[in-house]
Amino acid sequence: MITQVLVLNGPNLARLGIREPEIYGSVPFEDLAELCRSTGRKLGLSVEVRQTDSESELISWVHEAADARLPVVLNPAAFTHYSYALRDALAMRTAPLVEVHLSNPAAREGFRHTSVVAGVADGTVAGFGLVSYQLALQAIAELAAEDRTGQPEPGLPEPAEPGPDKPATVNPDLGT
Ligand code: DQA
Repeated sequence: MITQVLVLNGPNLARLGIREPEIYGSVPFEDLAELCRSTGRKLGLSVEVRQTDSESELISWVHEAADARLPVVLNPAAFTHYSYALRDALAMRTAPLVEVHLSNPAAREGFRHTSVVAGVADGTVAGFGLVSYQLALQAIAELAAEDRTGQPEPGLPEPAEPGPDKPATVNPDLGT
């Protein structure tokens, strides 16, 4: 069974190959896109790769993925670090989500150490250049297979447990 996957890329990633090659490598974006599609074919995934510099367009693609129950590999680029609007859109997801980065933001400038996206993703792959995308697609293939076999999918939010400040909804007065 072929699973459709969107690989979404945020701002400045179309400049791959010429953008700070010492950090992001010298492979052009179109080659990254082709690598994603061919990796997908080997994993039984039909991969569509998109890139935008616009937060609004990226959010509309996230909505589209949620409506169609499509898994997403997302490199939010700089939006990673501050776009609460993107995070809120991703929180509505209905299928696996893997955050991906070419570089390792944790080993770079302080402002890159925060990801507002990580908390709503199944997981993050960072620091392996193009291989990050291949690993992310592999993770999507695993998660999609788990979904199909009915195994619990670890990344999706569990129903809230009653905590000390959230009593169970049993009313002793009613004898329930
Ligand atoms: C990036 C890391 C981000 O901090 C940066 O803003 C990018 C690319 C990466 O793939 O390494 O644009 O997401």
